[in-house]
Amino acid sequence: MSSIQKLIIDCGGQYTLVIGRTLRELGVRSIILPPKKAAAWLKTNKSKGIILSGGNFSVYSEDAPHVPAQEILEAGVPILGICYGMQWLAHQFDGTVMPHWESKEYGKAEAVFDTADKLFSGLPKKNVVWASHGDSVAVLPKGFRQIASSEGGKTIAAMVNRKKKIWGVQFHPEVVQTPNGKKILARFLFDICGCQKDWYPQDVIAGIRAETVATIGSRKALVGFSGGVDSSTLAAILSPALGKNLLAVCIDTGGLRQDELREVRKNAQCAGVALKVVSAAGRFQKGLGNTVHSEAKRRRFKRVYGPTLQREALAFGGNKDSVVLVQGTLATDIIESGLVGEAQLIKSHHNVGLGLQIPQVHPFRNLFKYEVRELAEQLGLPECISKRQPFPGPGLYVRVVGKPARPDKLAIVRWADEEVARILKKHKLYHRISQLVVGLDCLRTVGIKGDERVYGFSVVVRAVQTSDFMTAVGYQIPAKVRREIDACVTKHPKIVRVYYNETHKPPATTELE
Ligand code: XMP
Repeated sequence: MSSIQKLIIDCGGQYTLVIGRTLRELGVRSIILPPKKAAAWLKTNKSKGIILSGGNFSVYSEDAPHVPAQEILEAGVPILGICYGMQWLAHQFDGTVMPHWESKEYGKAEAVFDTADKLFSGLPKKNVVWASHGDSVAVLPKGFRQIASSEGGKTIAAMVNRKKKIWGVQFHPEVVQTPNGKKILARFLFDICGCQKDWYPQDVIAGIRAETVATIGSRKALVGFSGGVDSSTLAAILSPALGKNLLAVCIDTGGLRQDELREVRKNAQCAGVALKVVSAAGRFQKGLGNTVHSEAKRRRFKRVYGPTLQREALAFGGNKDSVVLVQGTLATDIIESGLVGEAQLIKSHHNVGLGLQIPQVHPFRNLFKYEVRELAEQLGLPECISKRQPFPGPGLYVRVVGKPARPDKLAIVRWADEEVARILKKHKLYHRISQLVVGLDCLRTVGIKGDERVYGFSVVVRAVQTSDFMTAVGYQIPAKVRREIDACVTKHPKIVRVYYNETHKPPATTELE
């Protein structure tokens, strides 16, 4: 693989890794670094351009990230500031950044572009953009020119200083909610910075394999295997190089879906990796106890999951110096677990920050789901792997809401999940959905069964469409199919109603917990 062309400085925003992903989609490799490390990197490396990400802080806040101004501005390459990045640039050059005039610009906005500028050349003048900011640039710094406005001309949506080769956009071009955002980033990469395409799946596979095998060295490797696209693809990448030194372990937590183990076994075979299934439902039940709060449940789940995996790794490797744990953790999991720069904790993912004694590697830490799917296709893995819907590590435990996820509740949600998936498959809708979430809402509501009043639970059916799971659109299941699901699911004696949850992410997350 050729050298990195773009430096992305992470100012703590939720979308920083999405910038990296969009650059990869455009075929350009980048490196994402926190401000502290960016200065050191710039001393020994040269990128063709620098992108400053968004962030949660005000430029005046004491906690604001310390972006290395001198190193960046003296690098002599074009700079693009996004959201906080633009505010930081304006502040550096003595412009005025203030709380936004209407407290916040959030969601879809209409922006008018000056298409004479290189950044927007060839685009329509009026564009839908995604905004999410509490501060904004009120007065431009000297030498800067406004090249876009939003909110009817009241907000400076973009600025440029051609002489200094600095651009700033107040909106987020990296997210799909800015339909022409990718084109804007392409203008910056190719027309302004002169980058060339250099991200190809076969190179990524070779790079991940070489880097991971070098890290593992002569040690053995244990891969936490769920049978999903991430762990199956990772195992398929590593197995030709590691052979018998690689073992896949699937932990049966008691939160798996109907027939899941059968599929896990099949996918391990397709990935060419030896598989061990560990039955640990009792351990997880005990560890989760009567916890109801979602984050507490996730933490307790991790407290059982980590040591269980570690025990298996030690059994396989012999001792802690002879084995490495390989996990299919994605960028999304790391972002949401609050481990990228200053990003906030959204939810603790089961495989992030396990705090184990044995070393762990996350070769997919910079990738998004759809990219791993591309790698799976490149490897020739079957669609049951490359197109498989994700399922969270804590499984059905995070799909029982409001009461402890005891075996009786897990059995109900497992049954409902199987039935809903069956109906969606029958109507050829399942493949249109990125993820189906069937949950059990344990709030007792009133219903009638036979001629009697009963107090029962509700089933929540949620389907979303997305490619990266950072944002998602709630899918509307057609009314006829909903009727069929209602009729089927309410046959269960404990279920009195079915809710359909079509909320987008954000504000809702994919999972209910
Ligand atoms: P949310 O609910 O945050 O989830 O929109 C994004 C994606 O991540 C999955 N998810 C997990 N996957 N371990 C995982 O392996 C976890 O702890 C976990 N929590 C959520 C979720 O199913 C969705 O695909």
